[in-house]
Amino acid sequence: MAVALLVAAGRGERLGADGPKAFVMLAGRPMLEWSLDALRAVEQVRRIVVALPAGAQAPAGTIGVAGGAERSHSVRAALAAAGESGPDEPVLVHDAARPLLTPAIVRASLEALETTGADAVVAAAPVVDTIKRVADAELRVAETVPRSALWAVQTPQAFRRAALERVLAQPDEVLAAATDDASLVEQAGGRVHLVESPRENLKVTTPVDLRLAALLLEERC
Ligand code: CTP
Ligand code: MG
Repeated sequence: MAVALLVAAGRGERLGADGPKAFVMLAGRPMLEWSLDALRAVEQVRRIVVALPAGAQAPAGTIGVAGGAERSHSVRAALAAAGESGPDEPVLVHDAARPLLTPAIVRASLEALETTGADAVVAAAPVVDTIKRVADAELRVAETVPRSALWAVQTPQAFRRAALERVLAQPDEVLAAATDDASLVEQAGGRVHLVESPRENLKVTTPVDLRLAALLLEERC
C-alpha cells in the first residue's frame, strides 16, 4: 500500500487568477479534483493528504492540512498528517498543478520504486528542445548542451517513507532552496531513478498552460 500527498497550497502568482491555482476551474471542476481522480483510481493508494491554502476545505475522502511557506514545507506538513506507516511504505508526492496525471503514471512510479529498489523514483519526460547555456547577461551562447541525457522532471515522485522523512527533517532554509523533493534525496546521497512519463502530464504555471490543460482534459472526456 502507499500514501499520497497532494500539494495544493501555492498561491499561483504566475497564473494570476483571482484565487489559489489548485482551485481554479479547469474543464468544469477545481483543478485539484483531476489529480485526485487519478490517485483515487489506484488501488495501492490507501490514503490521500492534501496541503491546502488558508481557508480551503479538504476535498471529500482526503485529510486536509495547512500548507507551508514553500512547496517543500507543504510536503513536510502533509507527510506529518499522513499517520504512522512502515519505513518502506511508498509515499507519492504530486503537485495539484499537474492535473493531467493518470492512474497509469501513478502505477508506473510505484512499480519502478519496487523494481529499482531506489530511494526515490521521479516521473520525467525526455527533453525535446535544443538547450543552450548562456555565458552572460548579454545572452552570449557558451555552449549547446547535449540533449540525449536530459530529462524534464515532473510529479509524481515516489519515495520510501524513511528516505523522505530523513531529508524533510533538515532546516527550513535547506528545504526552501530545493525545487523538488527528489533533489534533497540526491544531495543526501540517496539513489534516485526516473520513470518515463508523457509530456502531456504538464504543469499549469501560466495562462497558456491552463488553456492547453483544458483542451487536453476536454478531449479525454
Ligand atoms: N505548493 C504548495 N505550497 C507552497 C507552494 C507551492 O503546496 N507553499 C504547491 C502548489 O500548489 C503546486 C505545486 O506546489 O501544486 C507546484 O508549485 P507551483 O507550480 O510553483 O505553484 P504555485 O507556487 O502556486 O505558483 P507560483 O509559483 O506561480 O506562485
Ligand atoms: Mg511556486
